[in-house]
Amino acid sequence: MGTDKASFLVVANRLPVDRVELPDGSVSWRTSPGGLVTALEPVMRAHEGAWVGWHGAPDEELEPFEEGGILLVPVPLSEGEIAEYYEGFSNATLWPLYHDVVAPPEFHREWWDAYVKVNRRFAERAAAVADEGATVWVQDYQLQLVPQMLREARPDLKIGFFLHIPFPPTELFQQLPWRTEIIKGLLGADLIGFQVPGGAQNFVRLVRQRLKMETSRDRVTLPNGRVATARAYPISIDAKAFNELARRPDVQARSAEIRADLGNPKTLFLGVDRLDYTKGIKQRIRAFGELVAEGRIDPEETVFLQVATPSRERVDQYKLLRDEIDQLVGRINGDLGTIGNPPITYLHASFPREEMAAMYAAADVMVVTPLRDGMNLVAKEYVACRDGNNGALVLSEFTGAAKEMRQAYQVNPYDINGLKASMELALRDAASNKARRMRALRKTVFERDINRWASSFLNDLDEVGRARDGAV
Ligand code: ADP
Ligand code: G6P
Repeated sequence: MGTDKASFLVVANRLPVDRVELPDGSVSWRTSPGGLVTALEPVMRAHEGAWVGWHGAPDEELEPFEEGGILLVPVPLSEGEIAEYYEGFSNATLWPLYHDVVAPPEFHREWWDAYVKVNRRFAERAAAVADEGATVWVQDYQLQLVPQMLREARPDLKIGFFLHIPFPPTELFQQLPWRTEIIKGLLGADLIGFQVPGGAQNFVRLVRQRLKMETSRDRVTLPNGRVATARAYPISIDAKAFNELARRPDVQARSAEIRADLGNPKTLFLGVDRLDYTKGIKQRIRAFGELVAEGRIDPEETVFLQVATPSRERVDQYKLLRDEIDQLVGRINGDLGTIGNPPITYLHASFPREEMAAMYAAADVMVVTPLRDGMNLVAKEYVACRDGNNGALVLSEFTGAAKEMRQAYQVNPYDINGLKASMELALRDAASNKARRMRALRKTVFERDINRWASSFLNDLDEVGRARDGAV
């Protein structure tokens, strides 16, 4: 393939940048959406290595290229593979199944065939780039077969896998017609990482039940004697970098400008998500609308800003969600707004990181209400930007982040009355209570940052890899 070899590789469905065609036909690159890229980009900058992934456009073979000290190795996907492997099996089968079936998963055999084929391509590309004995870190649900495929091709490698989304309860996972193949695919890794301990436990239980392999706590012994380990590593953000961004004078100025553009409200509520049905956006908007309608929130004083990144726009459930949110926001603003004063400002767009930091710095109450979420980095980003220990985080108990962020105003987003009560409390609580909670949250987010996540995973991978080679 005519490229340099690397001793450290990340393999993910997406590269950290997307190739986009502008209306005038020219091509540019922009940061890829989602938490995986936010988390891994600083890790790669610290490690130097190669990132193998799709560049976001169909039917294009691109040569590897370097950007910011990282070797980017594009993997091509055809239009058909995007439909069947990415939009189909990854995002209409696995995504809803792994998120507690909050939308019904679809099972199609052709989608599975495309998933196998594309996973093989990623494994081959990684095998071609990896140096002898290299560490290869495979990411997320789109590539669960890659660890085993890679091990067959390159037994010399140290192979890690990290699942960014929840690993489902065994009862749900068992619905998957290809459940055995997926488990075997993951077991190709030396170390399999999950967001929370429950995910790792579910996985080990499945291995015992379905494959009848010997397990002991977090270790699985395969029939050939090799050991695979399954553990939790809660992912995080580069908290210091986010904090520095939020403190920049231009970002502070932008933050004031955002508030002014919204009419300088006394209180600003904020929601920030990819437009995804797992995020509980409808629930939070409905809750806010009811609080206004009942006179518990005065729209002259309080506004809600919701920004949602366009996501997976050709998948049916996402199209449906977009229409539902448009309608809900339109109805609330139509019923409850006055001239120049819509209670909800809704932006369906993606913004640069500086703009996100300015929004976090501007917001008095951050509302994070997923029905299920592997971690949720938005919650951590908000906290990292709250230098004055003010502001309040309303956080769904169904996020991985809730396990660490105990001092948030935790909510069950299915309970709209409970959600309303918590949003109101977060609005009216005494400043001293808010400061106490925020201080504790900030301590957690700054201590357990992305460096700690990456080094604890990679140290453990090194250890289990050396044990495998008989070195310890
Ligand atoms: P997910 O990975 O499911 O999208 P996370 O909350 O873990 O959810 O990560 C989302 C990431 O996307 C965060 O880093 C957040 O800053 C970023 N993000 C979310 N909404 C937007 C937006 N409208 N514009 C730019 N970035 C966004
Ligand atoms: C989540 C997933 C990532 C994915 C991201 C954006 O963070 O865990 O694997 O990359 O969402 O979704 P997309 O489908 O646009 O890659």
